[in-house]
Amino acid sequence: MQLRLVKIYTLGINNFDCQIIKTGIPETKAALFSISNILNISYRNADFSMVNNSIDSAVAFLDRQQIRVNQGAEFDYFTFYRNYVVPVNLSLINARKNILKFDPQNIRALNLDATTLFEKEAYNTYFFTKLQRSNNGDMLPYLGKLLFFDPILSVNNAVSCASCHKPNMAYTDGLPKSYGFLKNDTLPRNTPTILNAALQRNLFMDASVLVLEDQAKTVVQNEREMHGDFKVVVAKLNQSSTYKKIFSQAFAGTKDTAISEEGILKALAEFQRTQLSFDSPFDKAMRGAGTIEQPVIDGYNIFYGQSQMRALPFCRTL
Ligand code: HEC
Repeated sequence: MQLRLVKIYTLGINNFDCQIIKTGIPETKAALFSISNILNISYRNADFSMVNNSIDSAVAFLDRQQIRVNQGAEFDYFTFYRNYVVPVNLSLINARKNILKFDPQNIRALNLDATTLFEKEAYNTYFFTKLQRSNNGDMLPYLGKLLFFDPILSVNNAVSCASCHKPNMAYTDGLPKSYGFLKNDTLPRNTPTILNAALQRNLFMDASVLVLEDQAKTVVQNEREMHGDFKVVVAKLNQSSTYKKIFSQAFAGTKDTAISEEGILKALAEFQRTQLSFDSPFDKAMRGAGTIEQPVIDGYNIFYGQSQMRALPFCRTL
């Protein structure tokens, strides 16, 4: 039911599933009612009045919006999400926990205990990588951060990941096309941000890489980027007692605590996994934890409604 609600907001109400006939509002009403109906029919003796009430309020809002939309106004996606979808989701979480008494198995990309889609906790980044949750707390991402900023990964110790993915420029370099430091050339593409890269199913413009670990391998070895050789990199890192110590702490309890190619790639991926951008004023406003000016809301409504950018990543990536 909660996944259905996500679908309603990401692909239903904005006419994504019915781009020509534009019946998003009536379809959303039907989909919301179906949530109530299925629950009430499946568990006849349970009291789902909180779910039913929140759905009734959402439907009443949709009816009011339909009149505005008929007059040519933009649908108010912002208010619909914050004031109506979130309460329905909360009522479903409450029903699952207190009435049906089961916890979600969070093996999915979405954490069903999260209240909104506009918070870090809503996404299970491990779903998208080969990584497994480890018990070493912050050590692995910390190691990854050190490596990300350390030119030691490149052949001439001059280029780090952060030479192109600059933190003060949202992990881009601001150039139309990136600069290949080692060969004084221009790379064929620009540097995308690494923020939220951990939530992508494919990486690179040609989607040639599926997980972050493999991505870093490609970059380190690419002769136009870092031209590194992992054997050499491992040897260089082994000269540092600090790196040796941090590797052994970061991988404590696993088979391999020595510095290795695999360890470097895992650490880099773990660091990037922590780089999620869910704390903009807009995210906070969507969570009901802050306010935002009306022009921003108007802009979001136009962007989300009229533009073609209507899939899940776009509903919040602002
Ligand atoms: C010389 C500049 C440069 C360096 C150094 C560099 N990158 Fe990149 N990075 C790029 C470019 C350009 C792309 C886009 C490539 C493409 O789409 O084919 C990219 C793509 C990526 C992506 C994929 C993002 C996406 O949305 O698909 C990730 C993740 C990434 N880099 C991480 C790293 C890491 C980790 C390092 C260090 C090991 C690194 N980069 C070093 C320029 C660089």
